[in-house]
Amino acid sequence: MSVFSSDLLRGKVCLVTGGGSGIGAAIASKLASQGATVALLGRTEEKLAAQKKRIEDAGGVAMVCPCDVRQYVELDAQVQKVVAAYGKLDIVVNSAAGNFLSPAATLSANGFRAVIDIDLCGTFNTCRAAFAALSVSGGAIVNVTATQASVPTPLQCHAGAAKAGIEKLTRDLALEWSRLGIRVNSIAPGPIAGTEGMARLAPPGAEETMQNRVPLGRWGTLEEIAECTLFLCSPAATFITGSTLLVDGGTSLLGGGAFMDMLVGSGG
Ligand code: COA
Repeated sequence: MSVFSSDLLRGKVCLVTGGGSGIGAAIASKLASQGATVALLGRTEEKLAAQKKRIEDAGGVAMVCPCDVRQYVELDAQVQKVVAAYGKLDIVVNSAAGNFLSPAATLSANGFRAVIDIDLCGTFNTCRAAFAALSVSGGAIVNVTATQASVPTPLQCHAGAAKAGIEKLTRDLALEWSRLGIRVNSIAPGPIAGTEGMARLAPPGAEETMQNRVPLGRWGTLEEIAECTLFLCSPAATFITGSTLLVDGGTSLLGGGAFMDMLVGSGG
């Protein structure tokens, strides 16, 4: 189901990183359900194959692009594979990400770098590899960030720095590529039910407390993130570039103070 009319993306070719699971998979299914051909890029081939089957079972068209967004040569080859297969590339969604809870005081330099590499460098790598094709199509990029980009969040300095970097990259690329007709935006989900992120980041048993901290009183859904991403890719958003769309039920309105209790017992 969609609040948008059907076939919004008929004839479009999309690439979704992190497209095998979670938010990336939900976005990929949404774009495919609107008529787009979707290339699913990610590290785990089995997850990509399962998501491809889900899309095909629903009547859509998908291909798999197994690779790690940190490996530029392989990534570029996958992007060129998509362009060779379908003759173009119209939309790129950067959803590949890594995160875990760790006090900054005990986080290793390599742990910090791993998240920056996947989230921020991976987003740049994908945009860079897709640039030539997007400049022909006058395409759109949507980068998935998180409220941690702007809200100080204990135990996630690595993800916060990476996501803040992506939002700045979004604005820089939006400006630099604007005259080519390429639009670059971000979407910043808050707590979304059924994601690996929430499984990793919500302390066990804390669901109710955390939901009470969301001004709208609940976690968001994958469907809500997918619909908002579709909006940013759609003809309804053709004058929007360089924006970050917060989709967080108002969580960020409360600022970082709401999460201070996460510090208790964390060693941070
Ligand atoms: N707490 C502290 N440090 C951690 C950690 C944790 N929970 N998990 C990993 N690290 C550190 C490791 O110790 C390592 O540092 P070291 O070499 O100094 O020991 C560093 O991070 C890299 O870990 P590694 O497992 O080798 O990296 P990877 O590239 O295989 O995996 C991660 C990247 C760590 C981000 C991994 O969690 C991942 O692949 N996540 C993808 C899925 C995901 O996170 N989804 C949710 C998105 S919100």
